[in-house]
Amino acid sequence: MRSLLSIRTRGVRRAGAALVLGALLLAPATPAAVAAPAAAPLPADRHQPEGDPDVLRDAAPRGLFVGTAVDMAALANDPVYRERVGAEFSSVTAENVMKWETLQPERGRYDFAAADELVEFARANGQRVRGHTLVWHNQNPAWLAEGDFSRQELRAILREHIHTVVGRYRGQIWQWDVANEIFDDEGNLRQNIWLETIGPDYIADAFRWAHQADPRAQLFLNDYNIEGVNAKSDAYYELARQLRREGVPVHGVGVQGHLGVQYGFAPDTTANLQRFAALGLRTAVTEADVRIPMPADTVELQAQAQGYSSLLTACLRTPRCDSFTVWGFTDRYSWVPDWFEGEGAANLLDEDYNPKPAYREVLETLALASGRGRD
Ligand code: XIL
Repeated sequence: MRSLLSIRTRGVRRAGAALVLGALLLAPATPAAVAAPAAAPLPADRHQPEGDPDVLRDAAPRGLFVGTAVDMAALANDPVYRERVGAEFSSVTAENVMKWETLQPERGRYDFAAADELVEFARANGQRVRGHTLVWHNQNPAWLAEGDFSRQELRAILREHIHTVVGRYRGQIWQWDVANEIFDDEGNLRQNIWLETIGPDYIADAFRWAHQADPRAQLFLNDYNIEGVNAKSDAYYELARQLRREGVPVHGVGVQGHLGVQYGFAPDTTANLQRFAALGLRTAVTEADVRIPMPADTVELQAQAQGYSSLLTACLRTPRCDSFTVWGFTDRYSWVPDWFEGEGAANLLDEDYNPKPAYREVLETLALASGRGRD
């Protein structure tokens, strides 16, 4: 099996990031110093058992929030996209605009314009927000990535960023991906500026600082290739257990769910999520998509539906797996073709917003789960 890690470290990564950043820079600028959006209670679940739901958010059983990553350029420029994000989803995640390179492009200068827009959109549409992400090895601004800081300096920088960002959205972000992709596929802590400069304590500290800044936010570890039981998910299991034993405020583990039909789907995703639940943790599917070597044929589209289903049913069968998020919902806007050469068609809707077999599968599974009265 080709490892996702090796694919992802190819040069296209930078090109993709530059494209997205370019699009963001074209968006109308708002001064960074505008007031933070007003805090309000998190939107409640609007599940209606008697309804005839034909959109994902209403089909979902009580207590399961169905989310999507949001591309802010598409949200601003494509009215159909905007309408569907509001109609179909009860949760949103910033695809890019809550990453370091967007939020703190220069040291000490924050730009919350795009992130504020998303939080405001979510408020207007009764949606919860998943914050993504506070510690990562990618999409860090050059001043940070190449800064050559001392341990003490970098720790102070990280603490300050987390306090500022989490504090700004205090009470408005439901779940934060605090630490993203911190293990490699062998289950070793990933070499990144945080580990190299601060040491492994950066992980517990990041969670503690996020908790100080917003005690109500649920704080997550998040990674890819941890759908099934394997060396990498074992490493998360051990880390989560250890952090909880030490009283570190870790509340959940997010399984990203970037799958490909050519690799098949882990048969033990339910068992994997359930072992985290048994530790007292929440779980979530945070970035589901199922890519296909192009061009996609009808059998692959059917296989794709099974891939989505494997993630969704595992979540539905796990206590306290309360968010299922897709990483984009239409093939019109997808990170996949930019990052995985020759692959695409990874989303629930096609480029013209027509439902694919995967959409129907997800909708039907949600409706079945609602009928069964999951609680
Ligand atoms: C991706 C975005 O979708 C792209 O637009 C960007 O160019 C690169 O990052 N794992 C993550 C996400 O945690 O933040 C990544 O998002 C996809 C993989």
